[in-house]
Amino acid sequence: MKVLILGATGFIGLPIAQAFVRAGHVVYGQTRSEEKAKQLVAEEIIPVVCGPADVNKYMALIPTLDALIDAMGGTDIKAAGEALLSTVAIAASTLRHPTAPRLAYIYTSGTWAHGENRTAVVCDTTPVTSPAELVAWRPAQEQRVVTNPYVNGIVIRPSLLYGRAGSLLAPLFRRAHEGRAYVLAAERAALAGGRIFDASNDVNESTDAFLERLVEVSGAQGPYEYLKPTNLFEATLNTTTILRPYLARTLLGWRPRKAGLNDHLDIYYNAWKASEGLL
Ligand SMILES: *[C@@H]1O[C@H](CO)[C@@H](O)[C@H](O)[C@H]1NC(C)=O
Ligand SMILES: *[C@@H]1O[C@H](CO)[C@@H](O)[C@H](O)[C@H]1NC(C)=O
Ligand SMILES: *[C@@H]1O[C@H](CO)[C@@H](O)[C@H](O)[C@H]1NC(C)=O
Repeated sequence: MKVLILGATGFIGLPIAQAFVRAGHVVYGQTRSEEKAKQLVAEEIIPVVCGPADVNKYMALIPTLDALIDAMGGTDIKAAGEALLSTVAIAASTLRHPTAPRLAYIYTSGTWAHGENRTAVVCDTTPVTSPAELVAWRPAQEQRVVTNPYVNGIVIRPSLLYGRAGSLLAPLFRRAHEGRAYVLAAERAALAGGRIFDASNDVNESTDAFLERLVEVSGAQGPYEYLKPTNLFEATLNTTTILRPYLARTLLGWRPRKAGLNDHLDIYYNAWKASEGLL
């Protein structure tokens, strides 16, 4: 397959791009920076240097592309994601051969879409009715993606604790797994199209248990204490969702293989220290 990852040097985009390379695909990666473009070349990723929504810069790929992955980061992703979908959809409808399969369009959402609920167990297909305030706009974008008639829309919601939560340790070990979920969704786009997948484990990992364990493995002075959130992002970090995803397991054969965060926290903590030059 031929795939294009938007945000290919990003926190989520790079492991996705690497996973596609490992799976033997031809991988294009968008980045704004000439410097990062060289890193992509070294990873066997063909760089496309432009802004993620500068569709005219990669228009030539659209007729023969199999999958486009929106893994854009930044502060403007709400407007950018919406504009990108409509521009790509128009390009795909006009530039692709009428009998070509629809372009798989994979949008990166997040499990914050489920919002706070400490009693109800939710899964991929649970209707989303009260998303976390920070991402209140996301469910509408998810729906635009999966219902767009010109692309084969797929939504993946990486889980927060391991994804974009800003956690310094968790991302180090989980990213590769999520990358694999994207590869499987693109490879099985005929099955995955029109669906929303929660890409998370099904382990109960409470913040208190995590913090207790972190005090233990880091040797920090306990006990820990909570600070009052000072902005919407910090408030959203406190979102609790009891998630039991099933769709990626049944349709894509994907499941996270790592143990829960707390079980091997000592290893992850050391990995983080090593990567920061703190060992
Ligand atoms: C949690 O979900 C249940 C079932 O949908 C609902 O009845 C309840 O009001 C929700 N709780 C909160 C705090 O939103
Ligand atoms: C995980 O949390 C849910 C909801 O509170 C609960 O029903 C379940 O028993 C918990 N599972 C474990 C293994 O603690
Ligand atoms: C986190 O959310 C819970 C439930 O909504 C609330 O009781 C608690 O005060 C919040 N914690 C912080 C630090 O805001």
